[in-house]
Amino acid sequence: MKLFDVYPLYDINPIYGDDVWIYDKKGEKYLDLYGGHAVISIGHNCSEFTDALKNQIEKLVFYSNAVENDLQREFANQLGIVSGLKHHSLFLCNSGAEAVENALKLASFHTHKERIVAFKNGFHGRTSAAVAASDFELIKSDLNKQHHVDFVDLEDFEGLFATFDKEDVAACIIEPIQGVGGLDQPSEHFFKTIEKLCKENGSCLIVDEIQSGCGRTGRYFAHQHYDIRPDLITIAKGIGNGFPVGGVIIDNKIKARYGLLGTTYGGNHLACSAGISVLNVLSRLQLMDKIPELETHFRNRASKISSIKKVKGRGLMLGLEFDFEVSKLRENLLYKCNIFTGGSSNKKLLRILPPLTLQVKHIDQLFSSLEQLL
Ligand SMILES: Cc1ncc(COP(=O)(O)O)c(C=O)c1O
Repeated sequence: MKLFDVYPLYDINPIYGDDVWIYDKKGEKYLDLYGGHAVISIGHNCSEFTDALKNQIEKLVFYSNAVENDLQREFANQLGIVSGLKHHSLFLCNSGAEAVENALKLASFHTHKERIVAFKNGFHGRTSAAVAASDFELIKSDLNKQHHVDFVDLEDFEGLFATFDKEDVAACIIEPIQGVGGLDQPSEHFFKTIEKLCKENGSCLIVDEIQSGCGRTGRYFAHQHYDIRPDLITIAKGIGNGFPVGGVIIDNKIKARYGLLGTTYGGNHLACSAGISVLNVLSRLQLMDKIPELETHFRNRASKISSIKKVKGRGLMLGLEFDFEVSKLRENLLYKCNIFTGGSSNKKLLRILPPLTLQVKHIDQLFSSLEQLL
């Protein structure tokens, strides 16, 4: 059997990871400034993390959600403490798209409405309603297009008011910093207007923190830089540091009932061990506290390169916008300088999503390489 060919592949085969480094089959060492798409938070092969997984594997890999699981309670409790959302609830699943799908479904259950308001250039995953709420037509099938979704430009207040006039809005979903779309962010005024419209219309505000969460911007959640209180927050990627973990954080005004949501694998023993260990390492190494200084250093180095027109994003969710398309530069960084970076739907943007264990010297390595290549 061959693989279903849906990914254009780089000719690199990683077999070993160590903190911010990846080693391939040929013994080449790469600086990972992409974290496998914002997934690696506490670094590759962090020993506390791998020990937690090994330890759990030797005890119990899986049992179903029909029985008590202390690890789920411990994970939820610690997530509440680290994120400051102690009075919310947690539903665990396995991926980002699944988290978004469940959040949208929950919003519709709660409001008895069905329209979704989403934003141009937003990305929320590839399952049914999640992809319908993503502004990328090429990845939607006819089946996905049956959902009722209105797309509004960030900062288009008029468009926002017009869509809420329809009165059947179950949820408005937004990334605090757009990932795949190219690191645009709503202003605080726009974000607060969305929050207000959701409240006035009895709609749910869903903040998608799948890429921007887990401390990546210096606060546990990116929306916490603003004074915003979402009804639902979707999480995945960094919370499992490579182990598939997804979840929805739910405001206590949304009530649970048996059968409302469900999953076989979500919140399994290994996933919870991974999640707890990420939270422990994040707190013990005080990784979030170090991020503002790293961002400042990054911006300083970027300001010295004339072809960089703008630095976008926040914390360690950053983008360098050049005055030319960057696909060749990305390839050169990878093949000539052994540095992984990312692209986005903005072809002039180089995306930087490193492990949160990044140090100043790694930022210097990127900029020295860029100076050499440009
Ligand atoms: C903001 C955001 N939401 C949702 C998803 C979907 O996550 P997953 O690929 O785990 O389904 C992604 C993935 O890139 C994302 O960036």
